[in-house]
Amino acid sequence: MVKAVAIITVSDSCFKDNSKDTSGPALLKFIEQHFPEANIHTIIVPDEKEIIERELKYFCDSHIDLVLTTGGTGLSPRDVTPEATKAVLHKEVPAIAVAMTIASLKKTPMAMLSRAVAGIRDRTLIINFPGSKKAVTECIEVVKPILGHGISLIT
Ligand code: MTE
Repeated sequence: MVKAVAIITVSDSCFKDNSKDTSGPALLKFIEQHFPEANIHTIIVPDEKEIIERELKYFCDSHIDLVLTTGGTGLSPRDVTPEATKAVLHKEVPAIAVAMTIASLKKTPMAMLSRAVAGIRDRTLIINFPGSKKAVTECIEVVKPILGHGISLIT
């Protein structure tokens, strides 16, 4: 059972103006629909590696089952979400990112520009998503079948 989920939007522009965040709300809607029993926490942070790491660790220490990040996976100099995630992971689960890439490439070649990673820290599954509503909507469908079982294996 998925009891608690955190959604972290990583974006300098959304941090300055919350109303610009469309991918975080798309993840929120998905979790509300598929895990109605879950407590959901949402935050927006800037593209700062230390801040992203601190929030990831905070949620993992708070016994959150699943942390979804959106944004900061690309190639621009400020994109550091994968680096922050790798710094806190105990084990990577590379096939999650591979599956998202394979499915995304059927939608757009731009999928090659996402460096998203996934893995576990203690008893929390962390998955990076790209930072657009379109990408999030496409990628969450890919991981949907493994979320319940994946989380049951670590909690
Ligand atoms: N994946 C899917 N499924 N659909 C998309 O539209 N956009 C890509 C890619 N992954 C996209 C996608 C684009 S345009 C970029 S730049 C990268 O994700 C990185 O996005 P980010 O820096 O916002 O995380």
